[in-house]
Amino acid sequence: MTQDEMKQAVAQEALNYVVEGTIIGVGTGSTANFFIDALATIKDKIKGTVASSEATAQRLKSHGIKVFDLNEVTKISVYIDGADESDEGLNLIKGGGGALTREKIVAAVANEFICIADASKLVAVMGAFPLPVEVIPMSANYVTREITKRIGGTVTLRDFTTDNGNLILDVSDLKITHPKALETELNSIIGVVTNGLFANSPADVLLLGTPNGVRRVTA
Ligand code: 5RP
Repeated sequence: MTQDEMKQAVAQEALNYVVEGTIIGVGTGSTANFFIDALATIKDKIKGTVASSEATAQRLKSHGIKVFDLNEVTKISVYIDGADESDEGLNLIKGGGGALTREKIVAAVANEFICIADASKLVAVMGAFPLPVEVIPMSANYVTREITKRIGGTVTLRDFTTDNGNLILDVSDLKITHPKALETELNSIIGVVTNGLFANSPADVLLLGTPNGVRRVTA
């Protein structure tokens, strides 16, 4: 089974978590794209979606799926999105695609977060994947110095502007043994919008695509 086939399998499985007649939060990235394509097959059964990025909104619309602005809705039944890394506690690193802040906002509104990923994303200790941190542009150098001083790692400015008009710092060379504390510490630095750790509010369910089928992981 290829990596894409494993992503497709979890995307298809995630349809079982879609609550009929409700609004669904939809994530960003290649796995989320497979989910969008699967969601299109049952689009008449849902009220609509909220997208975590402009790219996702475009793909949803291209399938004729209704996209609501988050400020138009009060309830999202379920949020479905990929991840860059997960540990067995369902703490995640997200933001490889740069959509971490909107992803965290939509996930916060949703009743349940179903993470979909291929088996390569599950690790014992997170940190091999550089941790994305979205920052207000004028604060980038200051935040870089503060992360280096307070946390360590190697900080690199990504050549990318987020949908919110901000910048991304990628922090590599970390061993994330205390993800909740690190998420909180990074968010306390002035200039940080948010970081890609989903640990204080982790996923509720991880659907992991393996060569032997979909494994359902819960904390
Ligand atoms: C985007 C994300 C994605 O969920 C993450 O990068 C995983 O992407 P893919 O499904 O392409 O592996 O957080 O900001």
